[in-house]
Amino acid sequence: MKCRVCGDGAVIDLRRHNANFCADHFVRYCRQQVERTIDQFEMLSPGERPLLAVSGGKDSLAMWDLLVELGYDTDGLYVGLGIGDYSDQAGHYARRFASDRGLRLVEVDLRQRYDYDIPTAAATTGRVPCSACGLSKRHLFDRAAVDGNYDALVTGHNLDDEAAVLYGNTLRWQVDYLQRQRPVLPAGRGFPRKVKPLVRLTERETAAYCVLRGIDYLVDECPMAAGNKHVAYKEALNGLEVQSPGSKTEFYFGFLARMADRLEDEPTNDSSDTSDTGARRDGPTPCGRCGSPCDGEICSFCRLVDRTAGAEPVPVHVLSTRAKATR
Ligand code: AMP
Ligand code: FES
Ligand code: ZN
Ligand code: ZN
Repeated sequence: MKCRVCGDGAVIDLRRHNANFCADHFVRYCRQQVERTIDQFEMLSPGERPLLAVSGGKDSLAMWDLLVELGYDTDGLYVGLGIGDYSDQAGHYARRFASDRGLRLVEVDLRQRYDYDIPTAAATTGRVPCSACGLSKRHLFDRAAVDGNYDALVTGHNLDDEAAVLYGNTLRWQVDYLQRQRPVLPAGRGFPRKVKPLVRLTERETAAYCVLRGIDYLVDECPMAAGNKHVAYKEALNGLEVQSPGSKTEFYFGFLARMADRLEDEPTNDSSDTSDTGARRDGPTPCGRCGSPCDGEICSFCRLVDRTAGAEPVPVHVLSTRAKATR
């Protein structure tokens, strides 16, 4: 197996590109893919200051490294979700990456700041954990980016994530979510610009990038993910990709090129589950409590805090066992 560029021994084969790369040229390939995505979708301009949401996993840490390498002065944002050991470990990896490289990491801890955590919120509301988790993260990401005057909020969503979300939204024809499924969403009143510069790289590629760049990341998956439909969509697409390399790229980028614009004026359907969809459901008036844009008087985040803050903490294993049982 030889590198497509220099002919040296290759360390990775990318079947969807019908190409193999040595370590050096693979790292360059990753940078080029991200640079191309940023330019094509006008995600960031030179000199802009992004805030990157960092989970401690491979994607967001690879994203941080790539943005810094491309010259963007990028701060990180870590949200402590209170998911037992998993969150403790995640925070550790995010902090270590930042301190090793002299980068700034902003931290928001749900328990300390709002007196709840994700397992307790899930138990109190009776909804799946990812629903409370997604709602809390979206709100806190927006807030931190706007309050910190950042030019954009970046997340480490990769091609596998976006193709899986697209698959789920298409299976249910969730037009309102499909309308918002772009790798860049413009800023609005109270919302930062949101961008996903990793959408051209797969999970396997971001993991390889981390290994080759010496980036230590949290390998474990969230213990509350059992029963999450997103995982099943990813598995289904992985099966297709083995049979037909390039399927995920064609599905996702084909949607962006041929379908996303056509859906702009489609009437929307109402959907109640906001987990894993990337949806932004709140409207244009300021929340009476926190000032974030919302539909009614109080935004969905403040309503979640009202319901869960101060409740008896529920340990993570109770919830993860329950999630497995309902699978
Ligand atoms: P996930 O929803 O866990 O697949 O994560 C998608 C992206 O959201 C990650 O690549 C990060 O950019 C961001 N993210 C997830 N969890 C956190 C967290 N606890 N703190 C900050 N950012 C996060
Ligand atoms: Fe962790 Fe949903 S809460 S995967
Ligand atoms: Zn090479
Ligand atoms: Zn609010």
